[in-house]
Amino acid sequence: MKHLLKMMDLSTEEIIEILNLADQLKYELKHGIPHDHLKGKTLGMIFRKASTRTRVSFETGMYQLGGNPLYLSASDMQIGRGEPIQDTARVLSRYIDGIMIRTFDQAEVENLAEYGNIPIINGLTDLSHPCQVLADLMTIREYKGKLDGLKMCYIGDGNNMANSLIVGGLKTGMSVSVACPENYHPAATTLAFAKKYDCFELTDDPIKAAKDADVIFTDVWASMGQEGEAEIRKKAFKGFQINDEVMAVAKPDAMVQHCLPAHREEEITAKVFEEHANEIFDEAENRLHAQKAVMVLLMGNKD
Ligand code: CP
Ligand code: NVA
Repeated sequence: MKHLLKMMDLSTEEIIEILNLADQLKYELKHGIPHDHLKGKTLGMIFRKASTRTRVSFETGMYQLGGNPLYLSASDMQIGRGEPIQDTARVLSRYIDGIMIRTFDQAEVENLAEYGNIPIINGLTDLSHPCQVLADLMTIREYKGKLDGLKMCYIGDGNNMANSLIVGGLKTGMSVSVACPENYHPAATTLAFAKKYDCFELTDDPIKAAKDADVIFTDVWASMGQEGEAEIRKKAFKGFQINDEVMAVAKPDAMVQHCLPAHREEEITAKVFEEHANEIFDEAENRLHAQKAVMVLLMGNKD
């Protein structure tokens, strides 16, 4: 594993290795056991989009590992004025030890990896959100004790979260049922991968997708960059909501996960959100632990 560009690039073994190390680092943090595996290392964090969780968890995680996080707003960098990402990759590779980038186009992340010679971590693109899904898998495993054999359901937009959840769920042995409106399906590359699995289902019926699910996911109807489509999307996604009717057909002990930020009464009711708030905020916390594992494996010498 040289980079974390998308879930599709990770093998099942690599995902499990990350989750196991994340569990260990979480234990060490909670028990005051030092784990400064990235002493003297610097992570550059390039943001072309807003963030609360990704920025703060990477920054804090880097400090906890003994390293130095460097926040780089794209609008303050020369890439914001058109400097090619290929040149940015080659310059930053001379100064720092790794780059986390949050941007629009997946190609920008792939280009950084191709032209630089330091590890690149995808902190969200329009196509994928691997750091979030590693935290999600970690949280499901904490609550359910396993991943293999569980049923994951995703209801809503076939966006970056849907793409990464489908791949991450299938690779870890889960069956995955996705309910999206017809014009909002996951990416063609995701569907091509998923269709090889008998345990994958794509439907426009949220109740069908949620039936007997162990964990139910949703995400915003309008992602970052789609603000202008918010009203059209509100109409298109009507009915694609996690609510009591959906929860009633899932397993009685089904979890709910949401990467956050959440829009109450749009993709999830306030009632269901609050009933599952512990699981959702554990999921947010696990961003920290899962990303620390990714950084140690990519940038560090773990003794
Ligand atoms: N879930 C997530 O990535 O949150 P932020 O946009 O706040 O980083
Ligand atoms: N799909 C959302 C996820 C936010 C963490 C977005 O891209 O805005």
